[in-house]
Amino acid sequence: MVTQPATAADITNGAKIFDIQCAGCHENGGNIIRRGKTLKKKALKKYNMDSLEAITSIVTNGKSNMSAYKDRLTTEEIENVAAYVLEQAEKDWRK
Ligand code: HEC
Repeated sequence: MVTQPATAADITNGAKIFDIQCAGCHENGGNIIRRGKTLKKKALKKYNMDSLEAITSIVTNGKSNMSAYKDRLTTEEIENVAAYVLEQAEKDWRK
């Protein structure tokens, strides 16, 4: 898999996708269904989700109550939203 560093454009696009597809459950990096499984740095680390590969994978294939996005988003869109999640986790979801 390609792991080039995300560009600013990728992150901006990722933010748009996040607002449409993910914020319903993960508003401000939280998780309204599984409270512990947030998108904050500590939780991502704990569940080995703190990498582009891991986030790309869960978004592509889904997990339990989170659906798969492979039919709804392109590979590029999934990578963009994963880059955005990592970037926001670094900033502790402060806008
Ligand atoms: C219907 C609600 C819902 C939507 C929409 C949703 N998720 Fe999730 N997400 C979940 C649930 C529930 C989990 C916990 C899955 C598990 O491990 O049991 C989760 C887990 C995650 C995790 C791992 C978090 C951790 O701490 O382990 C990431 C990363 C993630 N989601 C990203 C996304 C992204 C990016 C999107 C949009 C493309 C998205 N999610 C859309 C419900 C949702």
